[in-house]
Amino acid sequence: MDILLGLQWGDEGKGKIVDVIAPAYQVVARFQGGPNAGHTLHFDGIKHVLHQIPSGVFRPEIKNLIGNGVVLDLVTLQKEITALAQLGVDLHHNLFVSNKASLILPTHRLLDAAQEQAKGEAKIGSTLRGIGPAYTDKVGRNGLRIGDILLPDFKAKYENLKAKHLQWLQFYQFSQDFSEQEAQFFAAIEFIKGYQLVDSEYFINQEISQGRRVLAEGAQGSLLDVDFGSYPYVTSSNTTVAGACTGLGVAPRHVGEVLGIFKAYCTRVGSGPFPTELHDEVGERIRQQGHEFGATTGRPRRTGWLDLPALKYAAMLNGATQLLMMKADVLNDFAELKVCTHYRLPNGTLTDQMPYCLLSTPVEPVYRTFQGWNCPLANLETLADLPPALAEYIAFIEQTVGVPVTLVSYSPDRQHTVRR
Ligand code: GDP
Ligand code: IMO
Ligand code: MG
Repeated sequence: MDILLGLQWGDEGKGKIVDVIAPAYQVVARFQGGPNAGHTLHFDGIKHVLHQIPSGVFRPEIKNLIGNGVVLDLVTLQKEITALAQLGVDLHHNLFVSNKASLILPTHRLLDAAQEQAKGEAKIGSTLRGIGPAYTDKVGRNGLRIGDILLPDFKAKYENLKAKHLQWLQFYQFSQDFSEQEAQFFAAIEFIKGYQLVDSEYFINQEISQGRRVLAEGAQGSLLDVDFGSYPYVTSSNTTVAGACTGLGVAPRHVGEVLGIFKAYCTRVGSGPFPTELHDEVGERIRQQGHEFGATTGRPRRTGWLDLPALKYAAMLNGATQLLMMKADVLNDFAELKVCTHYRLPNGTLTDQMPYCLLSTPVEPVYRTFQGWNCPLANLETLADLPPALAEYIAFIEQTVGVPVTLVSYSPDRQHTVRR
């Protein structure tokens, strides 16, 4: 099993690359996150955004698995499946959903909104898809799982959990009518029963033992990991490599390549520390040229220069064996580029490591300046075709992080990708 995951704050271009490399695999599996993700695919002039369905879905021969580590919103899933059916993609045979995936209830979304509201200025900037409350119920041993929808006492279990949620909502003095969402939820439950609900740990281990190649598709990014991200401004799952093992039930000895994906610069959506953030016209230019607006919420993404201490940290946590660089084209007409090589700590010392907490230890980025390549990127066949200034930029990243860059992407389209 190879694992592809984001090394920054999400939206690195995971959807595009999973779609590009999927033909080398027989199974693509999501292992964490849920409808907070938005993975964009472009090919043959169409653009498609996937939230919960693995990005191998446009390759008809591939099996797509939603693993046990995912928190699943069935209403969103029904919409996604229906939209794909309209494009001629029928998922009855090649979508598999883990019985152990957690359910997002309509009241989880309300709790997400109530908790964000209660945080006021300190809000996380959640996508408000119910992710935090659903994972809270999972580890708090209150949650409901996909397999429960087939049990005779599902309705009673649902009512029981809903009653708890209503009490918590009362604590937050948050009330909202959700009868329509509840009706959609129960309709979606009937809908999903028409698809393959499986014991996914057996399913995936059988695929592996039969020699099939599995690609685990991460959601969010390493700097949003609940343990290693900029806590508490993180998501509620392990977005790093170990999350793929627990989120699928695959042992570490089956892990092969770890493909770490990053943008040629940085973006972040939602609140929380971002050392290289640009608040000036350069940041605005990156946002406009990179179309940096959220695929799930449409929010403008915060933008900044590439942060190598953060990238090194993420590569270390994941044991990345390859780096994939996205959106090089966005920097095509910048005369100069900056890359953060170190952080200056409040006491003046330089470090290339992540401090315990970027909130209590605000750092100042120390930059190295590079010449831009100042030309369009088109018709590239191999990495040897890259303009020299871009090759130099990449060589510096490889040398600093200690991991080779094996792929460069230069447009949203499937075809505009060069590989080593
Ligand atoms: P994901 O969440 O990691 O799958 O990434 P998103 O889909 O949220 O955001 C990445 C955005 O960048 C999408 O709009 C992609 O179509 C787009 N994109 C991906 N690769 C490239 C690239 O190399 N160049 C440009 N300009 N856009 C890209
Ligand atoms: P993909 O898979 C970028 C961010 C939110 C917020 C924080 C917590 O498309 O890369 P949550 O809804 O999980 O409680 O939000 O995490 N966030 C993402 N940012 N890409 C994502 O997914 C994200 N999923 C969550 O903006 O700051
Ligand atoms: Mg995204």
